[in-house]
Amino acid sequence: RCFIAACPSGWSTNGVSCFYIDPSRTPDRSTAQQKCLSMGANLPTIKSAGERDFIFNLLKNNPGISNEGVWLGLNRRGSSFYWIDNSYAGYQVWGHGEPNNFGGHENCAQMYKGGGNAGKWNDNHAAAMEQLPLFFVKNPWHTDERADFLLPTVEIKK
Ligand code: BGC
Ligand code: CA
Repeated sequence: RCFIAACPSGWSTNGVSCFYIDPSRTPDRSTAQQKCLSMGANLPTIKSAGERDFIFNLLKNNPGISNEGVWLGLNRRGSSFYWIDNSYAGYQVWGHGEPNNFGGHENCAQMYKGGGNAGKWNDNHAAAMEQLPLFFVKNPWHTDERADFLLPTVEIKK
């Protein structure tokens, strides 16, 4: 049994994951998330060093993304952080001194592309996050969405 992943045109492919960067600015976090969902995608969730390295490499290879990087699908609840699938963020790679909840209202998070904390994360407030491009992932690592963009599987009987 085997399968072939096919991404929509304009999306990058890695294995069975599809990635798309929308450089337009979004008004707020829930609009950002709605936009992702309308494309059958989501903001990135990162649950291992391998996923983090892969996404960081995509940022580094995309000249349209500034040093400020992209939104992650990561939200503060109290002093803890959770991914948009409601799972507790067990794997975390924060920049130096982060998360600092600066001003007491840093409930979102970004991954920096450049600077001293490149590839690491910063909690930030929604108004600052509005300046970042959106990074969409059709993310079969953590969901069942894979079936939406796989070609049918074919079994060969011997
Ligand atoms: C701080 C971050 C903070 C950001 C707010 C930076 O200088 O290092 O922790 O989230 O300012 O804009
Ligand atoms: Ca911060």
